[in-house]
Amino acid sequence: MSKIRLGVLGGGGDSLIGVLHRVASFMYDRYEIVGGVFNPNYDENIKFAKQIGISTERVYENFEKFINEEAAKPESERMEAVSVLTPNFLHFPMAKKLLENGFNVICEKPLTTSLEEAKELEALQKKNNTIFAVTYTYTGYPMVREMKNMIANGIIGEIHKVDLQYYQGWINPVIHDKEKRSKVWRLDPKKAGISSCIGDIGTHIFNMVEYVTGMEVKELLSDLNTLYDDNPLDIDGSILIRMSDKVKGLLRASQIATGDENNITVAIYGRKGALKWEQENPNYLYFLKDDEPRRLIKPGNVYNTDVSLDGTKLPAGHPEGIFDAMGNIYKGVAKALRGEKSFSGEFPTIYEGVRGMMFIEKVVESNKKGNVWISMENQ
Ligand SMILES: NC(=O)c1ccc[n+]([C@@H]2O[C@H](COP(=O)([O-])OP(=O)(O)OC[C@H]3O[C@@H](n4cnc5c(N)ncnc54)[C@H](O)[C@@H]3O)[C@@H](O)[C@H]2O)c1
Repeated sequence: MSKIRLGVLGGGGDSLIGVLHRVASFMYDRYEIVGGVFNPNYDENIKFAKQIGISTERVYENFEKFINEEAAKPESERMEAVSVLTPNFLHFPMAKKLLENGFNVICEKPLTTSLEEAKELEALQKKNNTIFAVTYTYTGYPMVREMKNMIANGIIGEIHKVDLQYYQGWINPVIHDKEKRSKVWRLDPKKAGISSCIGDIGTHIFNMVEYVTGMEVKELLSDLNTLYDDNPLDIDGSILIRMSDKVKGLLRASQIATGDENNITVAIYGRKGALKWEQENPNYLYFLKDDEPRRLIKPGNVYNTDVSLDGTKLPAGHPEGIFDAMGNIYKGVAKALRGEKSFSGEFPTIYEGVRGMMFIEKVVESNKKGNVWISMENQ
């Protein structure tokens, strides 16, 4: 079967996330990167294309040229999917034009900078019936998928408490210096949107709690911190959530958790047992019970669920990580693009992207209104 022709927007040599997507796309031999706009500077763009060994023929000066020329190509040649890896404010204009021209899209989170834009993209995607993935990377880990399946199969019983954390410390050395702060796009509302911490990382654990439990957050109450009055965006937040009358918990996110790196923890407590997972040690899933010592579940074993095994490439005991998690999301998209059988939840869809934007807006609204409960029901 021919490889999927993939275009890439952003994700240049100067980017954080570009390498993750490139490696992920190559991982299962399903895609071939055929062009894109990696960088707003054309020379850098060409230099980077040569560096990663792709032909410069379809490396464009800007997005306008990209869309005009790619959309004009016959179907047999045009890119079949395009990854949008630019800073947040460019996701909407790029994804909108891509959808209008019938492209399948793999878009970084947060989907847009407002819920309204996100809904507009969702309506376009439904109209054109294209594939649209939003890369909440962490749902690609085999042990996260194992956890989702164990919960769906009733192994921990009825859930009664959820507790998720995403703590980073990288903004701590930046935030106290106005000059340094002004250079970070994640702290600029024009580029990041209405939130820094919640938009950038809180949205990951919000998606994670809905993914692993199969339930939706119904209401939330937030308390955000900007640390300085002249810093317009949150860099820390604690959020109480209710998923039903009896399923409650919290989401905690911070970019000023001094010394923390990428400290995501997920704890789901049920009547019969609990599951605990940590992103910095992603091959270990702990199963806790009242009346037995805790069990350690690892990937690549005969006891694992099919979806977890499908996302594990090497025999048990060979650690796989974040690149592999993103690889699994790209694999899920490849199956959808080629109409192959797949497991449910193999890649986050535009629906999850819209939920993520609703989460960001409601968290900011709750904080602004004086830390009050806000409904998260789909409107
Ligand atoms: N899924 C995850 O876990 C994860 C992790 C990190 C970042 N992200 C998301 O990925 C996106 C990019 O984040 P990043 O940290 O890589 O940002 P970055 O600033 O490191 O990189 C952005 C890239 O986009 C390029 N770019 C900027 N304007 C462009 C334009 N007009 N046309 C083409 N390219 C352009 C830049 O040159 C750079 O290569 C953000 O939306 C962020 O939220 C997701």
